[in-house]
Amino acid sequence: MTKKVAQYQDLINDYLEHHVRADVDQETLSASMTYSLMAGGKRLRPALTLTTTEMLGAPITQSVLKAACALELLHTYSLIHDDLPAMDDDPLRRGKATNHVRFGAGMATLAGDGLLTLAFQWLSENGLPVVIRLRLVQALAEAAGPAGMVAGQARDIHYTGRKLSLAELRYLHRQKTGALLRYAVEAGGIITNQSEPVMAALSSFGANYGLAFQIYDDILDLTSTPEQLGKATQKDAGENKNTYPSLLGLAGAKQQLEKALTAARHDQSKLAAVSQRSFDGYDEFLAYFKA
Ligand code: IPE
Ligand code: IPE
Ligand code: MG
Ligand code: MG
Ligand code: MG
Repeated sequence: MTKKVAQYQDLINDYLEHHVRADVDQETLSASMTYSLMAGGKRLRPALTLTTTEMLGAPITQSVLKAACALELLHTYSLIHDDLPAMDDDPLRRGKATNHVRFGAGMATLAGDGLLTLAFQWLSENGLPVVIRLRLVQALAEAAGPAGMVAGQARDIHYTGRKLSLAELRYLHRQKTGALLRYAVEAGGIITNQSEPVMAALSSFGANYGLAFQIYDDILDLTSTPEQLGKATQKDAGENKNTYPSLLGLAGAKQQLEKALTAARHDQSKLAAVSQRSFDGYDEFLAYFKA
């Protein structure tokens, strides 16, 4: 990531570092929540919200930052639960032992519960206009909940060991990972109160970016090392997970990644046209996908 996103990462890290502990009233729970939160994620989702907000002409106030960081709380919960023994049973996350390895499965479950709930507290408790707060709460609930990410995770578990079609796998990926990234982009549109055509283009960009993100994550599981990713690799195949490389091979997965990225770039141009603003800020996020 280059300069601009790095600046946002610093802002986000600083905000999280100073504002979580005051909202948690049990020592071990607080340690467990901050352990995963501050272990060093890329902060792509809140950075997407901040970039979108700024490209649409609004300043990054403390209230905007709090709303954006709510998404990182929720994302971190999803990682803690995804790694649990009853789910992907992973030992390493963000370069450190997973939460359940360090604190036990019970406390890890509660750390996830705490982060998920605190996300909605932060979205509803900031200085943004009430209508905007309500729209953010509704949009995140829909993206993260039983019609979004949680449904995708349920599909992931339910169909493990059974081969999905490409259309079914695309749907799964759009839910389990695409929905939160789409929300990350939409949140910038909600915060700046955009018109329907701009919102539609933001949603489309976020959805295509999110699909690309999970296809790339599937590819990285095969082609990277734990040192590079800070999480276990070479795991999906052994566990019979439905992934793009398992269905299409590495070359086929890369082709689908390119297709999703082409669609995202098309949305980026469309956004510039409908909003009469530059969306070059997304270039850094698109540069995440290396060939
Ligand atoms: C990992 O997300 C989980 C997926 C949805 C693939 P990230 O790759 O954004 O993980 P962090 O936040 O940087 O750790
Ligand atoms: C996405 O899938 C995880 C979430 C939606 C939380 P993965 O299970 O592939 O994510 P990683 O590879 O463990 O980060
Ligand atoms: Mg998983
Ligand atoms: Mg996993
Ligand atoms: Mg993965």
